[in-house]
Amino acid sequence: MTKALDGIRIIDFTHVQAGPACTQLLAWYGADVIKVERPGSGDVTRSQLRDIPDVDALYFTQLNSNKRSLTLDTKKPAGKKILEELVRTSDVMVENFGPGALDRMGFSWERIQELNPRMILASVKGFSDGHAYEDLKVYENVAQCAGGAASTTGFWDGPPTVTGAALGDSNTGMHLAIGILTALRMRDITGRGQKVSCAMQDAVLNLCRVKLRDQLRLDRTGFLEEYPQYPHGKFGDAVPRGGNAGGGGQPGWVLKCKGWQTDPNAYIYFTIQGQNWANTCKAIDRPEWIDDPAYNTATARQDKIFDIFGYIETWLENRTKFEAVDVLRKYDVPCAPVMSMKEIENDPSLRASGSIVEVEHKARGKYLTVGSPIKFSELTVEITGSPLLGEHSDQVLASLGYDSQQIAQLHAEKVV
Ligand code: COA
Repeated sequence: MTKALDGIRIIDFTHVQAGPACTQLLAWYGADVIKVERPGSGDVTRSQLRDIPDVDALYFTQLNSNKRSLTLDTKKPAGKKILEELVRTSDVMVENFGPGALDRMGFSWERIQELNPRMILASVKGFSDGHAYEDLKVYENVAQCAGGAASTTGFWDGPPTVTGAALGDSNTGMHLAIGILTALRMRDITGRGQKVSCAMQDAVLNLCRVKLRDQLRLDRTGFLEEYPQYPHGKFGDAVPRGGNAGGGGQPGWVLKCKGWQTDPNAYIYFTIQGQNWANTCKAIDRPEWIDDPAYNTATARQDKIFDIFGYIETWLENRTKFEAVDVLRKYDVPCAPVMSMKEIENDPSLRASGSIVEVEHKARGKYLTVGSPIKFSELTVEITGSPLLGEHSDQVLASLGYDSQQIAQLHAEKVV
């Protein structure tokens, strides 16, 4: 079957998570992604947090499926020459080295354009060019703090908190993938490549836009009615941490279900959707609240919202999170069980949809990994296992015209 990105060759000069997540997505959709790695060690995630000795760690396998692996020491002249040949024959180079590393290696944007004017160079950095912190190396949680996520996450009586969702890493990779596809489309029109970059701080901020909305509202009014601090608590001059409050006009909270005393994930997220109030009252066995003026408008409910949630928790006392959702879904209440990773690992719906899949790895055997979260009617996404270090080196070199003697020489000199 034809894949959307068939014929697009990507030099995947990425490591850790942000860059690899981007190129993995493009590989799923058909691009030929050649991961260029340092001989001997490769991407640091191959050996980080290993669960099986001497086998690529799951950190690596989760982020590098559907790719080929070429080992190349790009600091040696012969390695640079091979990289130049790849640049001449590829469409996109993606990198997420520390600031200045690619220039120091001799592959500045100017040099890449000389080699191939159609080339798209896509970079992830912690901060944007010209930013006061542009020289900083950045990891996930650093970006969450710099992009406004941490100061607005957690509870008001606790410190700023990072989330387990990779807002700094994978999220920036997804943004960069959109940038690459945009640049490819532009190249169709102009015939020229371009430099595309996405800063992790900016990608986090892009997901924190409703918190910036809240800051502007707070600046003007001094309060935020959907936050737990309203109306009984106090606001300062910056958006506070709102615990588990809903971010829009529909109040919500994480509520305890049967078994919460022993199961740390026996909770649901419950949303009181204004337009669904009558149904919600029926669902929780409180029909008398439907027409009661003390409860039947969002404004009337505001000062007793936690009493309402408290009541719903008593309704949940004898229901597991799954039983509760099965009742609430009949009444159109927006809700979901708080899913543990154990439950996600075994979830039949996620497996049926291909959102998690089992694939084969040459050294570890079968392993579970994420599949494409985007579904297409005309594209079947097949996930394959991640490559071993240097698994495709000889194949790639042969495609560049190297014969077996030259390839053996490159191995002997530890260029590949
Ligand atoms: N052959 C030879 N050298 C190679 C190589 C190869 N195949 N691949 C990389 N290198 C070298 C680079 O040239 C660079 O060398 P230099 O510093 O002497 O110029 C070095 O390896 C890589 O440096 P760097 O990327 O800074 O690695 P690090 O491990 O010190 O830092 C990060 C890791 C993630 C903090 C840093 O890369 C970074 O800030 N990246 C941008 C933001 C980002 O993507 N962060 C999220 C990661 S999930």
